[in-house]
Amino acid sequence: MEEETKIMIKLEKAAKVFGSEAGTFTALQETDLEIRKGEFVAVMGPSGSGKSTLLQLLGGLDLPTTGSVRVDGEPLEKLSEKERTLFRRSKVGFVFQNYQLLPMMTAAENIALSLAASRTPKAEMERAVARLIGQVNLTGKEKSFPSQLSGGQQQRVAIARALAMKPKLLLADEPTGNLDRKNGRDVLELLSRLNREEQITVVMVTHDRYAAEAASRVVTLLDGAIASDEAEKAVAK
Ligand SMILES: Nc1ncnc2c1ncn2[C@@H]1O[C@H](COP(=O)(O)OP(=O)(O)OP(=O)(O)O)[C@@H](O)[C@H]1O
Ligand SMILES: [Mg+2]
Repeated sequence: MEEETKIMIKLEKAAKVFGSEAGTFTALQETDLEIRKGEFVAVMGPSGSGKSTLLQLLGGLDLPTTGSVRVDGEPLEKLSEKERTLFRRSKVGFVFQNYQLLPMMTAAENIALSLAASRTPKAEMERAVARLIGQVNLTGKEKSFPSQLSGGQQQRVAIARALAMKPKLLLADEPTGNLDRKNGRDVLELLSRLNREEQITVVMVTHDRYAAEAASRVVTLLDGAIASDEAEKAVAK
């Protein structure tokens, strides 16, 4: 029991098969994987190896075809659609390569989206947005629209939005993929700090060896299967 409470993610024989007229395609083979609370895991592997598929399963955006995905004790495949939406909203933050901000909304409004969706009172929402803006170092940019922000700033807005509901798990799919070195480094530092100081479990897909160094563990996928799983910098960290 004690052990169970330290586990954030537990995959048991979780597999994902996509079907189409052309036949079926196994994007993720039967996979066992355990991620403890507070870990920062990088997921690497070539294009098409199943990284995004895995991330979607971890966040309950998609369900495994077979097997089980348990996140913070919840078996996702056993939840109803509605329960799964609530689970996502309250426990998981998502960050994507292309930020996915709403262009007609300011930074502050983008950050407030999920708070508004969960009917947070206005005063509380304003306090939360101010705190989040500060946390991602964007004070002064509250009223800027995404088009008026740099890529790095847009990604930090997206991270603030992901943090609004105080998730225990942050899933990032190539968060530095569109950024130059400097902005990429800022985003990685931010993710590391959130992991360290807020004890948020982070799972980050990346192609970049340098980005993976921010993580304490690197899981490498190959053809939809885990090819290696190593703790990095166990000493250096
Ligand atoms: N909805 C779908 N229907 C059919 N096949 C799919 C679907 N989604 C993904 N796939 C296939 O599953 C495999 C894994 O896709 P996935 O997006 O997980 O790869 P990835 O490792 O994230 O690649 P990349 O680095 O290019 O983002 C690919 O071969 C892809 O074509
Ligand atoms: Mg992908």
